Amino acid sequence: MTMRQDTGIATAAAALARTPGQAGWRHDALAGRTAVVTGGSSGIGLATADLLLACGAAVAICGRDTVRLDAAAQGLRQRHPDARLLARTCNVLDESSVGDFAGQVERELGPAAMLINNAGQGRVSTFASTGDAAWSEELHLKFFSVIYPTRAFLPQLAQSASELGDAAIVCSNSLLARQPEPHMVATSAARAGLLNLVRSLATEFAPQGIRVNGILIGLIESGQWRRRFEARSESELDWTAWTRELARTKHIPLGRLGRPDEAAQAVVFLASPLSSYTTGSHIDISGGHSRNA
Ligand SMILES: NC(=O)c1ccc[n+]([C@@H]2O[C@H](COP(=O)([O-])OP(=O)(O)OC[C@H]3O[C@@H](n4cnc5c(N)ncnc54)[C@H](OP(=O)(O)O)[C@@H]3O)[C@@H](O)[C@H]2O)c1
Repeated sequence: MTMRQDTGIATAAAALARTPGQAGWRHDALAGRTAVVTGGSSGIGLATADLLLACGAAVAICGRDTVRLDAAAQGLRQRHPDARLLARTCNVLDESSVGDFAGQVERELGPAAMLINNAGQGRVSTFASTGDAAWSEELHLKFFSVIYPTRAFLPQLAQSASELGDAAIVCSNSLLARQPEPHMVATSAARAGLLNLVRSLATEFAPQGIRVNGILIGLIESGQWRRRFEARSESELDWTAWTRELARTKHIPLGRLGRPDEAAQAVVFLASPLSSYTTGSHIDISGGHSRNA
């Protein structure tokens, strides 16, 4: 995690702690609640875990790469020495591994009250360049990365809702769900499906007191964009110049890519009781990139 992200998280936590008129928002606002962040070892997921810990929640993160996961956990423990943190290798597309992860969370941190379905990545391909295997892989990733964790953690969320009065699922989705791009045809279609799924789950789970929402991400600086930067052809541009140029060519009104902590703030709002009357909805985190009114 960069210093820039650290500053953002600290600022967000401080802002939450002093928000006037919101007695419930303090640095320990989420104490006594357990949060699970899939894909919590990098980018938006890592920033979300950081902010949840800053707000006093017990947090479990997972990812596939052990080295990245261990580095993330070490950084989080340094920043939050008293943190109740569980980091476990888990591929969200492996249902039995997700089930084991859910069991460990319940045993070590108590039942989850917040599930952040964040793990994943985008696929750059047009209709012409997307074969059947790629279509299946992309649709499988975008749906089952939500289906398996949601199924595994649902009993815990229902228990938390009954004991604490609120439980929530938040899905990291993309602006592509509403604003498809031809160069990301499969990801766009799959993201639209997830948008629809969130709406259905919100209705089905509402009687159990579990809210379901999502964020629509535009372009956020993260591992995904770092990887594309490293594979760039215009090698004379550094990261700052490259991302600024990207924002210009994409016509992003705020003129820059977003930071992971800016997405994390929306996720934590939707995961927390601060949004207790919000379900089935999405917050746009795109710097004005959305063309929707
Ligand atoms: N950044 C953007 O501009 C943007 C835009 C639209 C949507 N999104 C979505 O936002 C979410 C977070 O992305 P990010 O930008 O923060 O990317 P990132 O920095 O690459 O982080 C992705 C995280 O997901 C984990 N992950 C990926 N596949 C996984 C799997 N099958 N099982 C478990 N963990 C997995 C990664 O760890 P391992 O690789 O070690 O498993 C990593 O922790 C993703 O769903 C992404 O598609 C991002």
